[in-house]
Amino acid sequence: MNIKKILTIITIISSSLYAGFIASDWIKPDFVPTPHDNRLTQERIELGKLLYFDKRLSSSNKISCATCHDPKLGWSDGISKSIGHNGAEGPRNSPTIINTAYQEHQFWDGRAKSLEEQALGPIENELEMNMPLDKLIPKLKKIDGYVKLFKKAYPNSEITKDTLAKAIASFERTVVSTEAPFDRYILGDKEAISKQAKAGFELFTSKGRCTDCHSGFNFADGSFHNLGLGDGDKGRIKTRKGVEISTGEMKTPTLRDITKTSPYFHDGSVKTMHEAVAICGNGGRFTNAKDLSHLIIDRNLNIDEIEKLVAFLRTLEGKTMDISIPTKFPQ
Ligand code: HEC
Ligand code: HEC
Repeated sequence: MNIKKILTIITIISSSLYAGFIASDWIKPDFVPTPHDNRLTQERIELGKLLYFDKRLSSSNKISCATCHDPKLGWSDGISKSIGHNGAEGPRNSPTIINTAYQEHQFWDGRAKSLEEQALGPIENELEMNMPLDKLIPKLKKIDGYVKLFKKAYPNSEITKDTLAKAIASFERTVVSTEAPFDRYILGDKEAISKQAKAGFELFTSKGRCTDCHSGFNFADGSFHNLGLGDGDKGRIKTRKGVEISTGEMKTPTLRDITKTSPYFHDGSVKTMHEAVAICGNGGRFTNAKDLSHLIIDRNLNIDEIEKLVAFLRTLEGKTMDISIPTKFPQ
C-alpha cells in the first residue's frame, strides 16, 4: 500500500468513525491473490481470455464460458437457470465471475477451492460444454496458434489440463469490480451518492444487519447460509462423523454490480432487487424452513426502508470494465 493511500485511509477513518462505520472495511485490496504456482503474467491473462471466449472449447463449438458469464450481462447470463449443451437447463443460476478471484470457495455450494479447480468442471459437464478433456487437449494441440501461446505463457509445460485451467483462472483474476459511486463515497466524496442511498447504507449496516453476511469490499463473507428458499437444493455438503449431510446453505454472493445480474439467488427465482432484499431482511422466504440460518431474522423492514436499501445497492454498480473482447481466435 502506498503512502498516499495510507493517508487517505487515515482521513476517512476519522470522518467515517464519526459517521458510524469504518471505511477501511470497504476498500478493495491492492492485490488480487494468486497461487504461487500460477503468478499473473500478461501472456497468461491474454491466453486465458482467448480460451474464455473461444466456443471451440465445447463439443458443439457453440458454447464458451462467456455464453453463461457474459460481460454484457454483468458476467452472468440474465436467465433463471443456465442453458448449456443442446439446450439443456442446468440446476442453478449462473453467478457473476466478478471478484471470484477474492473467493476461497467457488460455486454456490463452495465445492471447488480455487479458480483452477473450478475451470475444468463446466468444460466437461454434459449440461454445459459437454467436452471431455481427453478430446479437448488434442483438439487444442492441433491449433498452432494455441501451441505457441501456451509455450509463451507456460514455457516449461505444454497444453495440458493443468495449464488450460491455469490460463483461464489467470484471465478470471483480471475480472474485478471497478470503481462505483459507493467507493467514491467511502473515500470521502460525500456527494457521490444520494441521501436516499446514504440512508440505505445506514440500514445495511445497522437495522437490516446485511453486514452479518454481506461484509467487506466484496459484500460477501465467504461463508454459507440457508435462506429458506424451499426449492430442495442440497446446497453445501458437510461431513459429520463420517456421514455426509446437506445443509441447503449457499455461499453469500457479492453485491457488486448487482444491478446487472437479475434474476437473483441460486435458483434464479427472484427478478427484482426489492424482492431479494425483502427475503434476506425479513426472515427468509419460508420463515419456518428446516435449517434456516439463525442470522436470518425478520428485521421488519418496511417498503420505504427496502427502497432505501435498493438505492444503496444501485451505488455498487461500477464503471464499464476496460476489457476488449476477442473477435479473432488462434488458428
Ligand atoms: C451453461 C452455462 C455455463 C457455462 C458454459 C459455464 N458456466 Fe460457470 N457457472 C454456471 C453455473 C450455473 C454456475 C453455478 C453452478 C453451481 O454453483 O453449482 C457456474 C459457476 C461458475 C463459477 C463460480 C462462481 C462463484 O461465485 O462461485 C466460476 C468461476 C465459473 N462458473 C467460471 C466458468 C468458466 C471459466 C467457464 C468456462 C470454462 C464456465 N464457467 C462455463 C454456468 C456456466
Ligand atoms: C444470513 C446471511 C445473510 C444476511 C443477513 C443477508 N444476506 Fe443477502 N444473501 C445471502 C445469501 C446466502 C444469498 C444467496 C442465497 C441463495 O441463493 O440461496 C443472498 C442473496 C442476496 C441478494 C441476491 C444476490 C444474487 O446475486 O443473487 C441480495 C440483493 C441480497 N442478498 C441483499 C441483502 C440485503 C440488502 C440484506 C440486508 C437486509 C441481506 N442480503 C442480508 C446471505 C445473507
